[in-house]
Amino acid sequence: MTSHKLTLPEPVIRDRQFIKPLMCGPGPCDVWPSVAEALTRPVISPICDEYFNVMDDIRAGIQYLFQTRSPLVLAISGSGHTGMETIISNLLAPGELLLVPNRSIWDERATKMASRYGIKVETIFTSVPFTTFSLEEIESALKKHRPAGMFITHGDSSTGTIQNLEGLGKLCHKYGTLLLVDTVVSLGAVPFFMDEWGVDGVYTSGQKALSGPAGISPVAFSARAEAKINNRKHEPPFYFDMKLLAQQWNCYDKIRVYHHTLSPPLVWALRRCLEEVISETLPKSWARHAAVTARLYKRLQEYGFQFLIKKPEDRLVTVTTIALPRGYDYKQFVDHMRAKHNIMIMAGLGPTVGKALRIGIMGVNSTMEVADRVGDAMAETMRALTKSSL
Ligand code: GLV
Repeated sequence: MTSHKLTLPEPVIRDRQFIKPLMCGPGPCDVWPSVAEALTRPVISPICDEYFNVMDDIRAGIQYLFQTRSPLVLAISGSGHTGMETIISNLLAPGELLLVPNRSIWDERATKMASRYGIKVETIFTSVPFTTFSLEEIESALKKHRPAGMFITHGDSSTGTIQNLEGLGKLCHKYGTLLLVDTVVSLGAVPFFMDEWGVDGVYTSGQKALSGPAGISPVAFSARAEAKINNRKHEPPFYFDMKLLAQQWNCYDKIRVYHHTLSPPLVWALRRCLEEVISETLPKSWARHAAVTARLYKRLQEYGFQFLIKKPEDRLVTVTTIALPRGYDYKQFVDHMRAKHNIMIMAGLGPTVGKALRIGIMGVNSTMEVADRVGDAMAETMRALTKSSL
């Protein structure tokens, strides 16, 4: 008889309690109470009417969120990165060229991801660090390289910048290029119009201004992108294959074919996030985010903080980057905010490592009370660190 002697003893899993911080980094942010409740709803089969109804609701909500009438919209299982992987791997074939105007860590990720699929990449950089691209700079790169696609980040959580997208779709299409956009930290907080702006492939994520959990990511494709997908000769990864996923999500009202088991709690939660945006309406959500961030700016300016992003029109509403005076330690600042105020902000990432603090006020946290609480805590932290670090 086979011996069933364990080769590994039972590990000790301790009960690790903590007091939930106020989540004011670049994301994840706190979830809506209704979304926390939705996460506890029952697990059901991915092949039953209740589940199909939720998927239909989610598709309608995603169309509203992206402002698109395209039928090819659905949610991918996974964090925002799976959205990135889905649009890149479905829209570009190995050997084709992707242009990446690079100002953020996410543009670097897109570059690396595309290269792994054998897609060629050309990169351009802003002439001045921590700014965004002009239409002229982008047009000259499109004219020179004539890429099959261009990937650009709308809101960038690493630098705290927002790229103006108006006019880019028209420009890309003039050169036979598809426009691929990351809206992970912008969607729901600032205006975005997929159809009107000529965006061909776009994704977002649940844990930022939608105030939901990470792990389920809305994506949408234009008619132009859909034609490319239907005529493509290459095979994207099975898990991200839009032709198969469109069948699972019944995008064409014809067929539902099982592809993989989405996480039911995440599906319930995403539907609830979409209901929150729909009941507030997008214009009201955009106005709320703008007003609250204006209040945060005012508080920070009163206390003498310096913005990393010099041009106000380049500043992202959801994530504010602050450059500390010489001699201050970013990690120490973040640690003090957590230890003394139980507020979680973050230090720089990618191009802003050692150069900025990143403060995120978005979704359910986008309120005047939170803006004041964060501003006051930042001022206290600055005073406390003055004593220790100078
Ligand atoms: C994650 O999205 C981050 O900006 O840290």
